[in-house]
Amino acid sequence: MIGVLFVCLGNICRSPMAEAVFRGKVEAEGLADTIRVDSAGTGDWHLGKVPHEGTRRLLDDHGIAYEGMRARQVRIDDYADFDYIVCMDSNNERDARAVFGSKCDGHPKVFKLMDLLPERKASDVPDPYYTGNFEETYELVSEGCDRLLDRIRQEKLAGV
Ligand code: 4NP
Repeated sequence: MIGVLFVCLGNICRSPMAEAVFRGKVEAEGLADTIRVDSAGTGDWHLGKVPHEGTRRLLDDHGIAYEGMRARQVRIDDYADFDYIVCMDSNNERDARAVFGSKCDGHPKVFKLMDLLPERKASDVPDPYYTGNFEETYELVSEGCDRLLDRIRQEKLAGV
């Protein structure tokens, strides 16, 4: 099983959106038994909460399932438990790496979603908790998730 963890700050807006969007694509490709998907936040303010209302509305509008998702914090074991640790912005990557410690120094399995979309100007996924623009975030998340699936296919699933 290939593990993908999406990381943001609160685990209520961007990373749950990415988790739900990516899982939807994984299921649509018939890879649900091959790739497992989770998300976590570097902060602890929203532990146990369902995704933000704006994220839920956006996922409902796009017909994407998100049942059972609850906010949790990044933990040290996530580093060993996941193959791709995909952060929404530079602060999230810095903070996740700080949780994992020196064993992840320079390791490419921790990276930013926008690293997959170098043709886009943004290097961070905008945080709709502050911008209020969930659709803008969704467009980048969805495009980034397509690119992530391409990368996983190339790196781990040649021929699948
Ligand atoms: P997220 O957005 O990192 O995309 O879940 C945020 C959610 C909550 C807070 C900040 C960002 N907060 O400060 O509570």
